[in-house]
Amino acid sequence: MSEKITVSVIKADVGSVVGHSKPHPSMMDKCREVLADGLKQGTIDDFYVTRVGDDINLLMTHRKGENHKEIHGLAWNAFMEATKLAKKMKLYAAGQDLLTDAFSGNVKGAGPGSAEMEFVERGSEPMLFFMADKTEPSAYSLPLSRIFLDPFTTTGLVIDARAKKGFDVEIHDVKDSMKVTMSSPEETLSILSLLSDTTRYAIKRVTSRAGIGPAAVVSTDKLNLTAGKYVGKDDPVCICRSQSGLPAVGELTQPFMDTMIVGGWMRGSHHGAFYPCSVEASDPTYFDGPPRICCIGLHISNGKFQGTEPMNSKPGVHLPIDFFEGPEWDYVRSNSIKVSKMLRGHGPFMPATLSPDEMEYTSKPEVLKELTKRFERLD
Ligand code: F6R
Ligand code: MG
Ligand code: MG
Repeated sequence: MSEKITVSVIKADVGSVVGHSKPHPSMMDKCREVLADGLKQGTIDDFYVTRVGDDINLLMTHRKGENHKEIHGLAWNAFMEATKLAKKMKLYAAGQDLLTDAFSGNVKGAGPGSAEMEFVERGSEPMLFFMADKTEPSAYSLPLSRIFLDPFTTTGLVIDARAKKGFDVEIHDVKDSMKVTMSSPEETLSILSLLSDTTRYAIKRVTSRAGIGPAAVVSTDKLNLTAGKYVGKDDPVCICRSQSGLPAVGELTQPFMDTMIVGGWMRGSHHGAFYPCSVEASDPTYFDGPPRICCIGLHISNGKFQGTEPMNSKPGVHLPIDFFEGPEWDYVRSNSIKVSKMLRGHGPFMPATLSPDEMEYTSKPEVLKELTKRFERLD
């Protein structure tokens, strides 16, 4: 098929059971119901509803392109319906990510996060969907840099002629709401110079320079909400196409074997180490974390998802590969706990906590106000 298809992931935290832990299964079922309806109406071609920690992730395929009103509207309705259930059960933070009562056609700026890519489906289209909880979009900058810029991670950058042509990297300046596209390998060091500041820059999109199209896209919506004001621990998703001129599936997962410290844990105000795990194990059970990272794999097949479920299963019923489930990831899980526990040993002190202007919670302005009269100038 040469027709373009779009893969959209729209995600939100609309309430969870016992703190910020896990959406109630009935909320997920409600989302499935709404999307099944959208499929019947012809709005979408297929869907899969999953989650990481307290975030519901709606995976959808369709032919309407990115940022389409009907697609965003469908996801919004699913989250609204799930919110109603969360409110009925008095679950925690019910409706948290739905920031407006009047949906205006796009989830951008309205609370949920979205990552979407439109492409012509190849002969075979293996895709990975990374989903993170208790962290921010720039958490993907390190692993994506390793994947797309580092030949010691992705051997394909050296030995696959198309991957060797390099990648264009769209970087967002989240503080000034600006974007810039830079090219690797020529500008690799300058790209890293920007991305190393995870408080300001994040990768939005990576595109093949061999004409294969989009390779990766990250949800960064909340960060772009208000110029100059940092608003988001988005619990971001990242969609990657893979193989045949793009990084292989194994090259995409490899960086997660290293222990990475990311921002956004506990009260959106702490650093913690990424904890790769299965979707089932993604409840944040230690100090609201540590920040979970899940990775599921599905094919796009004639515009629909295909995992290990039987062909022509009921729409929305899929069995993805759960890449971070297996025991080989025990190694990094154990390191993640060691590093996270070491950070916890610092209590409220930096670097356990984020830098003051990155903290989602802070009592500092009040404390300083109370002390105004008591502060004395040093001699
Ligand atoms: C939410 C999160 C949690 C909360 C924390 C305090 O996803 O990251 O760490 O920030 O549980 O929550 P509140 O302020 O709702 O009591
Ligand atoms: Mg949450
Ligand atoms: Mg969350």
